[in-house]
Amino acid sequence: MDIRKNLLVVLTLCIASCTYAAPQPGADSFTVGEGCFMLNDDPFVVKAAELHYPRIPKEYWEHRIEMVKALGMNTICMYVFWNIHEPREGEFDFSGQNDIAEFVRLADKHGMKVIVRPGPYVCAEWEMGGLPWWLLKKEDIRLREQDPYFIERVAKFEAEVAKQLAPLTAANGGPIIMVQVENEYGSYGKDKPYVSAIRDIIRENWGDVALFQCDWSSNFTDNGLDDLIWTMNFGTGADIDQQFARLKELRPESPLMCSEFWSGWFDKWGARHETRPADDMVAGIDEMLSKGISFSLYMTHGGTSFGHWAGANSPGFAPDVTSYDYDAPITEWGTVTPKYHLLRGTMQKYSDTKLPNVPKANPVITVPEFEFTEYAPISAGVTKTVDSRDVLTMEALDMGWGSLTYTTTLPELPAGAVLSINDSHDYSQVFVNDRFVGKIDRVKNERSMALPATKAGDRLTILVEAMGRINFGRAIKDFKGITDNVTITTSIGGHNVTYDLKNWKIGLIPDDYEVAAAALVNPREGGGRGYYRGWFDLKKTGDTFLDFSTWGKGQVWLNGHPLGRIWSIGPQQTLYAPGPWLRKGRNEVVVLDVVGPQRAVSQGLDAPKLDNLNLTQGNTHTDTSLRPDLGTATLAAAGEFAAGNGWQTVRFGSPVKGRCLVVQALTNQDGKEVSAIAELYALDADGNRISREPWTAVYADSENTLDSNMTADKVFDLQESTYWQTVPGEQTPHMIVIDLGSEQTLTGIDYLPRAEQGAPGSIKAYRIFIL
Ligand code: GLA
Ligand code: CA
Repeated sequence: MDIRKNLLVVLTLCIASCTYAAPQPGADSFTVGEGCFMLNDDPFVVKAAELHYPRIPKEYWEHRIEMVKALGMNTICMYVFWNIHEPREGEFDFSGQNDIAEFVRLADKHGMKVIVRPGPYVCAEWEMGGLPWWLLKKEDIRLREQDPYFIERVAKFEAEVAKQLAPLTAANGGPIIMVQVENEYGSYGKDKPYVSAIRDIIRENWGDVALFQCDWSSNFTDNGLDDLIWTMNFGTGADIDQQFARLKELRPESPLMCSEFWSGWFDKWGARHETRPADDMVAGIDEMLSKGISFSLYMTHGGTSFGHWAGANSPGFAPDVTSYDYDAPITEWGTVTPKYHLLRGTMQKYSDTKLPNVPKANPVITVPEFEFTEYAPISAGVTKTVDSRDVLTMEALDMGWGSLTYTTTLPELPAGAVLSINDSHDYSQVFVNDRFVGKIDRVKNERSMALPATKAGDRLTILVEAMGRINFGRAIKDFKGITDNVTITTSIGGHNVTYDLKNWKIGLIPDDYEVAAAALVNPREGGGRGYYRGWFDLKKTGDTFLDFSTWGKGQVWLNGHPLGRIWSIGPQQTLYAPGPWLRKGRNEVVVLDVVGPQRAVSQGLDAPKLDNLNLTQGNTHTDTSLRPDLGTATLAAAGEFAAGNGWQTVRFGSPVKGRCLVVQALTNQDGKEVSAIAELYALDADGNRISREPWTAVYADSENTLDSNMTADKVFDLQESTYWQTVPGEQTPHMIVIDLGSEQTLTGIDYLPRAEQGAPGSIKAYRIFIL
């Protein structure tokens, strides 16, 4: 044989063995059968527990896996969070707490299958939905679209993820049975070519593994690819048959899976802790199992968004709290709840074998009150100063997280001149010659404030603290710091004068522990805004909850571990301090408080405070002084909605101009008094939905916040599972009033009632007004 022929044989053999490798020892085949998933030759119902490895201290990974196994789950579902693995472009980290292969191997050790959801976007109430902030250094980047730079970065990241995990697929003898392509793309746009590009990247890197997409029943067809498995996401209470109705029509033979069955919900700063009834959640799981429907319980254990990793929602700016307890069956710190026991009872019914015993809880300790005796002003944390004619964003300054100070000189101004920060991301405090004169809080939609009288040459300083980047909807392109410019408008000699302020000195204050520790190297006496350090001694370690209810706003580090954000407004007032991060002997707690504490003390409690709101102004919209006079409003439409779940459209007889939308519920479908709306859109002259970014809730005659969060803003929070609902006993008619942010010409609305069976609280006779 000549040598070239020889080479060809070897090559052919090699390609054959690479592409069509003989099954690995222990390999499983996970496939789609008729109406069900198949594991080897048997139908397999996926009973998955969603767990997020960065939200659980590594030392506790195995404990949490054992906890969900004892609950009767057979699979772990996990996102991969791009931004923790690629902190700087091209620098990848899969070690320690980021060791995803280790997490998967631990699941395997306990006989659990694994579903991997490698994004690139994951939502998850996680900073920027998992995308790395440094993507925004390319200011015109198009995120989650076919922008060549974005796709190129995604491809590099996904290749690294696959290097870690593809050897662990079922086909390769590991536990990974499915991999998700993108995440709920329907809530972002319609772009099959983009979703296809992500699919191709995943497929190329992972080889032989089942790929799926997750979306909502209302929009999955927008981006559903023919060759992928389709699964639906919905929450506790949803009408399950209705959620799968469309899928069954389109693909009668498809296995059914709820890829995110929401056990509870996440909390945002300034609103009550969210809960969902255990009975309803368990009834949903029971129904799905009785019908052979696969599910992933999101979250089975939520854990904690340590450090600066909590994201934010929009429209508006609604940053999430540090705890990701989620009212899940397993608490933030890994203990059982009544929900856990109830669910375990139901799961046992569907298991041939006795479920394993519930693992022992980890020890919980208390720490007596201790003082923070060391202090340094915030200025001690400035690591670098940059001179710039214009304000610059944090990203333009090559910084991911923390605070910035912007300083310039002022002209002479009469009292009451209006300072506008365009836009302030997120919490700005304003100082003249170092004296605090006011704040501009993005959460409250504030944009401007009045200044005191100033002399020419007075020094203006704006301290801007960034919170988590928005993780949901089109607003994920969320630059931090001051994004455009700062202006002052005043009247001089009867003329309006606007100053566009220039020539800034910008101070960078990254939120790393090292920066805080360096700031405290020469501690001094003092108080107010700044860095604080306190110490306490322990004889034995255990989980505890550090109480920050006397503090202002900022971040906390325990023995160098970032614990998360604090904010006096609540509802969260304590931070989870995991036992493995504590030490026998001396423990250090460092706080950066950008507002300043009332008392610089803390203590370790044996339970968290997750539902202690502390607002100077309520978060409801029932102030009757804001109730509009409908006498002056234009009646745009009146009629009756149809009964049942799903979207409905109302078209006005003729276009109507105005800035406020009023929906009045005269009667409800069930003839009772409680009205509810899950989502509302307004339609423009072409019948397209207008942007809800600038929307604010002005008024609702009734809002149920007694034991929940059914406020008016829930009709435009982009979530079909959350809703505005009135208080039982308060009679119809009901009314909700929304400020659209600017005058609009409207031709109709889209209305979505609650997703629960029978659409509770759905409206029958309605009137729609524009003001
Ligand atoms: C969606 C997302 C998840 C999470 C939930 C809400 O389903 O896919 O990442 O954001 O909403 O908790
Ligand atoms: Ca909603």
